[in-house]
Amino acid sequence: MAEYVPPDSDDFLTVREALCEPVRNAGYKYAELPVFEDTALFVRGVGESTDVVSKEMYTFDDRGGRSITLRPEGTAGVIRSTIEHSLDRGQLPVKLWYAGPFFRAERPQKGRYRQFFSVGIEAIGSEDPALDAEVIAIAYEGFRSLGLRDFRLDLTSLGDANCRPAYRVLLQEFLADLDLDDETRQRALVNPLRVLDDKRQSVIDQVKDAPLMIDHLCQSCSDHFAAVKSYLDVLKIPYVIAPRLVRGLDYYTRTTFEFSHARLGAQSAVGGGGRYDGLMSTLGGQDLSGIGFGLGVDRTLLAVQAEEIVLPPRNQLALYVVAIGDEAKKTAVLIAAEFRAAGLPVDIAYGERGLKGAMKAADKSGAHFSIVIGDRDLTAGTCELKDMKSGVQETITLNTLISTIKARLL
Ligand code: HAM
Repeated sequence: MAEYVPPDSDDFLTVREALCEPVRNAGYKYAELPVFEDTALFVRGVGESTDVVSKEMYTFDDRGGRSITLRPEGTAGVIRSTIEHSLDRGQLPVKLWYAGPFFRAERPQKGRYRQFFSVGIEAIGSEDPALDAEVIAIAYEGFRSLGLRDFRLDLTSLGDANCRPAYRVLLQEFLADLDLDDETRQRALVNPLRVLDDKRQSVIDQVKDAPLMIDHLCQSCSDHFAAVKSYLDVLKIPYVIAPRLVRGLDYYTRTTFEFSHARLGAQSAVGGGGRYDGLMSTLGGQDLSGIGFGLGVDRTLLAVQAEEIVLPPRNQLALYVVAIGDEAKKTAVLIAAEFRAAGLPVDIAYGERGLKGAMKAADKSGAHFSIVIGDRDLTAGTCELKDMKSGVQETITLNTLISTIKARLL
């Protein structure tokens, strides 16, 4: 499982916030949802034949003998909650975002963890292709705001209930004539599109002339896809048409996309999503379409590191206070409280470690400034202020400390 402790945890937070920020600026409202749900929700929502459901779920019985599962993804839970709270009975589309840990019992490797962190959005109740472009643009903006460049957006349309069944039959007929092993033959029966995504050269060679969904879209899916692309063009968001893109979840219809980063090796997907026409009705709600994404915070952090992007430090201390003597300590405690109230990060040298030890701690703290106050300074109402970078020291009056440091930090 991925876990983040200092100093790396700062960059983790920065990445997570960068991915959330464009969401907040687009009218999405926050949903805090449970990390476990009824197992049946994922079986019905994500699809029994997917690897996620058939092999990767953390499923167990609770004390009441109910089968529950740690959420492997967020969309099914958001739709469940939307139905449960009748959010879809108000203004449409319902626009929600969420963030937190997700759980998949995959074989761990770099960038693939059993507990990982995602930021997701779902926009439910509109088929407007401009909404598809908005969802993609928000993800794009999140990656770009971190300074990432070496990533790609793959885009396709998976058709809908009108055109996909006929295409599926066509693809199955094509696959039936190939020389495939039993397992792949079985996959062709259950989920033929996944065979197009097989990474083995022998299969790649055989499916290179396979019929593609994108060439068999019905008129309305084709128009919808053309409109999505035209909005992305207006937004100048580069994309690659990827007719063989297959995502690991069964609910996708029409627009489907994935962001991948070039320097992450095998686990290159930093985010992905798409439209899902039938999901809400499958889960017992109205027949509304939706679209959303899930962005991987862990992998985005790895991408930031791979591109050697230096993220700005977080909450760097403005001041480190060293007090010598009991009265001075009381003043130090008060100064710290005043700085914090003014929104300036501050820390104090705790414990009895003497001036030398305390100054060492001041150095290590990364603070912009430090002060040393002794009991004698208190009568004068002054302290020794040190600029930790230049080493320059000066005597200043205590009651101008906040304004002086504020002005210098500008
Ligand atoms: P997903 O592509 O399965 O989509 O997951 C979203 C992102 O989570 C992936 O692109 C990847 O960056 C990250 N991720 C997935 N599994 C792992 C793992 N084992 N370790 C580290 N990172 C991982 C969904 O979950 C859909 N619910 C997205 C969506 C929302 N589609 C429509 N709405």
